Amino acid sequence: MRHFLTLKDFSKDEILEMIELAIKIKKETKNRNFKPYLKDQTLAMIFEKSSTRTRVSFEVGIHQLGGKGLFLSSKDLQLGRGEPMKDSARVISRMVDKVMIRTYAQETLEEFAKYSKVPVINGLSDMFHPVQIMADYLTMIEYKKDKNPLVAYIGDGNNITHSWMMLVAKLGLNLNIATPKGYEPNEEVSAKADEFAKYSGAKISYFNHPIEAIKDADVVTTDTWISMGQEDEKEQKLKDFKGYMVDKKLFSLAKKDAIFLHCLPAYRGYEVSEEVFEEHQEEIFDEAENRLHVQKAIMVWLDKRSKNG
Ligand code: CP
Ligand code: NVA
Repeated sequence: MRHFLTLKDFSKDEILEMIELAIKIKKETKNRNFKPYLKDQTLAMIFEKSSTRTRVSFEVGIHQLGGKGLFLSSKDLQLGRGEPMKDSARVISRMVDKVMIRTYAQETLEEFAKYSKVPVINGLSDMFHPVQIMADYLTMIEYKKDKNPLVAYIGDGNNITHSWMMLVAKLGLNLNIATPKGYEPNEEVSAKADEFAKYSGAKISYFNHPIEAIKDADVVTTDTWISMGQEDEKEQKLKDFKGYMVDKKLFSLAKKDAIFLHCLPAYRGYEVSEEVFEEHQEEIFDEAENRLHVQKAIMVWLDKRSKNG
């Protein structure tokens, strides 16, 4: 049985297989040809943090696949009153077919997966947001077709950065990362990415200035400076991220036909200017919609793999 907790666990071929499946399912969905690949299955969706896109896309996705989504907020679950994760995993996974979890520590997901009888999907942790980056990659190839684009990530070294690093390292792509000093990506994740890059030919470069990183980029991306759970760091971070807003001036250093991606929610006037956001809203909202298509593909792929052993 396979879980989807981080892209670390998947080969290049497997990632591309899921993307191919997403392209097929997207076509079918656009034609309102909803094929019941997961007929009568139930997806439990456990949320320990807020969400708009993840909840809507997973719930609609499983419905379109012929199954049913079960929204479970940790505020209402016994989990929120101290029932151990492993017991919750043993109970819930006896009754449903797939589980999606949005939580804080990556270890929480791993613990749940260890005791689960069914595939577990990471719907965001402090360390990774792999379903988001799969949607970002699908969007990128829709806009950039055959090229091997240079992606520039400007901002906080966080779950989104780590997921880009894993994707790029596995697929052999090019990524520039600019973070202020002290906000660099996690060292273990960097070491893993370097290890994979040796085999895939990926090139990941680190900068402490956005101007160097964004130069000639084909894809520019950023994320909130204050991730969920970091609210207390806001005041300090606003000072430390000065000069990191992706505004017209900064964006003009990227390639002329560069696209802009943002996982959302976006905070205009902080990580991105209103002007850049609105000019690139087409690709940003395609990216948001692609969450639906890519996650349907991931669920179907995991289902097949679980049945084939
Ligand atoms: N991008 C993303 O995961 O959005 P939500 O927090 O709204 O789910
Ligand atoms: N880095 C952000 C992503 C939100 C989708 C967070 O973790 O809050």
